[in-house]
Amino acid sequence: MNNNKTKIILGIETSCDDTAIAVVNSERKILSNIVINQNSEHMQHGGIVPEIAARAHLKLLEYALERALKKANKSLNEIDLICATGGPGLIGGLIVGTTFAKTLSLTLDKPYISVNHLEGHALTTRLINNISYPYLLLLVSGGHTQLLGVIAYGEYKRISTTLDDAAGETFDKGAKMLGLKHPGGPEIEKYSLKGDENSYIFPKPMYKSKNPNFSFSGLKTAFSRTISRINNIEKEKSNLAASLQFTISECILDRTKSALNIFKKMISNDKNIQLVVAGGVAANTKIRQELLEFSKQENIEFFAPPINLCTDNGAMIAWAGYEKFINLGSSKLDFKPRPRWPLDPTAHLLNPTMKIVGKKGIKS
Ligand code: KG4
Ligand code: ZN
Repeated sequence: MNNNKTKIILGIETSCDDTAIAVVNSERKILSNIVINQNSEHMQHGGIVPEIAARAHLKLLEYALERALKKANKSLNEIDLICATGGPGLIGGLIVGTTFAKTLSLTLDKPYISVNHLEGHALTTRLINNISYPYLLLLVSGGHTQLLGVIAYGEYKRISTTLDDAAGETFDKGAKMLGLKHPGGPEIEKYSLKGDENSYIFPKPMYKSKNPNFSFSGLKTAFSRTISRINNIEKEKSNLAASLQFTISECILDRTKSALNIFKKMISNDKNIQLVVAGGVAANTKIRQELLEFSKQENIEFFAPPINLCTDNGAMIAWAGYEKFINLGSSKLDFKPRPRWPLDPTAHLLNPTMKIVGKKGIKS
């Protein structure tokens, strides 16, 4: 490979219910970004069914690749690097995407790079805003809610995580209780526009606590109890959605405030601080606005990816794969997909209450 020329990078994402392929170049240009969501296949089941997701990835990947190459005006032979999400995520989809990427790598004789999905979200801001390390990252998605110090490439220091549910999961479950479609976040946001966020008061777990961790299960239970007491949910949908969104947003903001001080100590600096939000929940306008306001007050810089790059996509996998390649080289073809793959593998050691060990190891 010519090391000086602009690299053309393929990014393949299959860790959940979006089949996504993008072509990105090493000059930070997104040449194509195809995302095929499987919502219609999962909707009738009220949530994501892993087996259905894996089969859908298998059916859709070739089509997604064709579209991504066509849109980018590139042929397969022009691709320099093949990057695919290797975890964390649903194992069926990870196996499908990883096998697809390795096959392409062998056929085309081009390097294969296994990418951590969370690193994809974490580095999107470097693809879009070209910001430098270090930064404080608020990673809020369907499966994860964490605050991390991103110190350098591959150096993540987890400040906090959720003790139970993720923020996106809370949006999704709340939406399901209201009879709204999956994914719930955008639906709650849509209904919130017509509702009064002060109409219901819900608990804010961990609010004002010095411990920067998150917790959402108490909120979920309170929401469910409130719903069970309402006779005409249809009439109250917008008010309930707005109050839920308000409470989640308040919790996120409060935890971010507490993590900011820890981050400043971590990097021994309180100047030129950068706050980055990433993950599907970062698409929420209210949460983005609150974080922006907070950043102005604190005199720190705030970065949020464009809405379409908050939720899962192939461009973030291509970029994170490229950064991995220039720092660590290519991955071996015997890489096994990892349903769990924490960004900071030592985080649980710092806080024994967070040591959640399942059959397959420590939860991410
Ligand atoms: O990052 P992502 O696409 O997938 C995971 O890695 O989990 O995040 C999906 C999550 C879902 O829970 C979805 O409801 C939530 O992001 N989400 C939103 C919005 N758009 C997506 N939550 C709140 N407001 C939104 N506009
Ligand atoms: Zn994601």
